[in-house]
Amino acid sequence: MSRFWNKKTRELTPYVAGEQPREGAKVIKLNTNENPYPPSPNIRTTMNHFDPVSLRLYPDPQSSDLRRAMSSYLNVPSDNIFCGNGSDEVLAFAFQAFFESGATASPLRLPDISYSFYPVYAKLYDIPTQIIPLRGDMTIDVDAFCSGACGGIAIANPNAPTGMSMKLEEVEAILKANADCVVLIDEAYVVFGGESAVSLIDRYPNLLVVGTLSKSHALAGLRVGYAVGSGELIEGLCRIRDSFNSYPLDRFALKIAEIAVNDRLWTEESTRKIIATREKMRLTFQEMGLDVLPSAANFLFVNVGEKRAEYIYNYLKNEGILVRYFKKPRISAFLRISVGTDTEVSALLTAMRAAIQSMEEGEI
Ligand SMILES: Cc1ncc(COP(=O)(O)O)c(C=O)c1O
Repeated sequence: MSRFWNKKTRELTPYVAGEQPREGAKVIKLNTNENPYPPSPNIRTTMNHFDPVSLRLYPDPQSSDLRRAMSSYLNVPSDNIFCGNGSDEVLAFAFQAFFESGATASPLRLPDISYSFYPVYAKLYDIPTQIIPLRGDMTIDVDAFCSGACGGIAIANPNAPTGMSMKLEEVEAILKANADCVVLIDEAYVVFGGESAVSLIDRYPNLLVVGTLSKSHALAGLRVGYAVGSGELIEGLCRIRDSFNSYPLDRFALKIAEIAVNDRLWTEESTRKIIATREKMRLTFQEMGLDVLPSAANFLFVNVGEKRAEYIYNYLKNEGILVRYFKKPRISAFLRISVGTDTEVSALLTAMRAAIQSMEEGEI
């Protein structure tokens, strides 16, 4: 606490990201859902030919070339695409552009268990929220999102940290029932098994789909996110961007992201490997007697038991394996484990078995 902080800064509860070990540390990092495979090899050639003199000039504020590449990747006109500095920034712009602030505003509806940045942004921008609990089976309560008026909706699909996904009909039901407010569907993990709502943007001007290259294209370090929606929503995002930072993506990021998006085969191949490993992991956890939620993402949410979760998390950490543990109501029995390479996963499984055995011996 500092006497120089204003009221807003004093009252914030900032987002806590998964641990980022120092560069070069020998750890198996399965805690922030990064892609375990490298990004497109075409990036190296582009980097070798990148002319540093071009950095003298500001980058294209409209991200035109990248939007053109995204347009063919997502099969939507580039006028319906917005690019930003990671989807976290795109989400922040969307919250500011479309959800009302102030105590008397109609609340933004959020699931109780979802990406923990949503309530952080809501607080930062003074947007009141109405929290809708997940059903007992950890699925989104679609009916609750469809009943009564609200000031907007934000849902991750597939959801994080559960990994569970809604069907397209369910997303459509939410869109229909909330035609007067923006429904933000965060598809950070959609390539790993979800159904994308991008195809619905023509029919629902209130739909904003947010995505990222961090997971699907193995570019978490580059910071490139995007949104897809009707022209009026894209214009709203541009108005916020141009009132904050007209150049959210630098020249280097724009070029590299474009190359990566154009290398479809590379992305498809690494996605296929991740899904195959995820399914093997899931079966192994089940054989170990653990409950695992069905995942359409690049991570699994594994119920290891209330008494054991924190112990296993710490045990794995001591072994140099990072996973995510949320000490929060309803999910404190779970570990969220990103899908790694087959070698990383086999080390994880060996360490988890050892952790469970050591607990049983110590009768924890
Ligand atoms: C659901 C969800 N949305 C958005 C993000 C942010 O992704 P980025 O800012 O790297 O694009 C994450 C990151 O983990 C996420 O889990």
